[in-house]
Amino acid sequence: MNIQWYPGHMTKARRMMQEDIKLIDIVIELVDARLPLASKNPDIDDLAKGKARLILLNKSDMADPKYTKLWESYFKAKGFFVLQINARTGAGMKAVTGVVNEACKEKIERDRRRGIKNRPIRAMIVGIPNVGKSTFINSYAGKACTKTGNKPGVTKGKQWIKLNKNVELLDTPGILWPKFEDQAVGQKLAISGSIKDDILNITELAMKLADYMSKNYPGTMASRYGIEESDDSVKVLADIAIAKCCLMKGGEPNIDKAASMLIDDFRSLRLGKVTLEQPPQSEEE
Ligand code: G4P
Repeated sequence: MNIQWYPGHMTKARRMMQEDIKLIDIVIELVDARLPLASKNPDIDDLAKGKARLILLNKSDMADPKYTKLWESYFKAKGFFVLQINARTGAGMKAVTGVVNEACKEKIERDRRRGIKNRPIRAMIVGIPNVGKSTFINSYAGKACTKTGNKPGVTKGKQWIKLNKNVELLDTPGILWPKFEDQAVGQKLAISGSIKDDILNITELAMKLADYMSKNYPGTMASRYGIEESDDSVKVLADIAIAKCCLMKGGEPNIDKAASMLIDDFRSLRLGKVTLEQPPQSEEE
């Protein structure tokens, strides 16, 4: 991620989003299926008020399918339309247009009652950096689509991608900031590789991950590294270092190297499909 969020930048992004949102009927929000809340923008509900909403649980190929299902139900219960997709391969994306139409049914009806026929549904992709917005737009729009160019009444410079005769997509996604003031959110985003880890301590991140794995995916560390299960994350990293011969000159385990290895193994799915957060059981949580 090469975007550094600071108040000025956020204000500009918010203003652009507020302008763009006036032009559209439906907000298609991408979140990372491995961390659907941490990868959500905190202000999106406010910004997208009154618009149809579709949440795409992207990178579902990397997430634990059991939890992705639970997240799908969680967001549906909150009134969102939801789909699980993999923007990289296009899996699950065939359903998007149908769901967009379904979500905008009321608008289509309203138009019809007013005698407006064939006004296309306008959609916009939004999400935090690295969640897969560009990949989605390229994959969804494909090569066959046509750009519609500027239209009267549409902010100068806006390009619309005509997906079919019913749906047009704004070609530039709305980039929003994560809930970065929450340390746990920053850690999950960093573990998943969505924010640069050089701004965070990799060993600290790996300790968090080891702790989460021992609580939620018992047996994984033992089978991956042949080490004993433990809820002491420093010991886990030391054991990984020994098991993988990451030793310092004096023979001491190289904890930092083991930490990098663990994070890398997580990102490359060598620990399996792991979801980093689970839907809250109740609203109080
Ligand atoms: P952004 O516009 O929201 O910032 O995200 P972008 O599309 O650039 O995607 C960020 C990274 O996430 C890219 O990987 C992209 O390939 C990957 N990605 C997007 N959707 C999916 C998905 O559904 N599954 C998986 N596994 N990965 C996905 P990258 O390594 O940064 O680039 P590249 O290797 O694809 O060139």
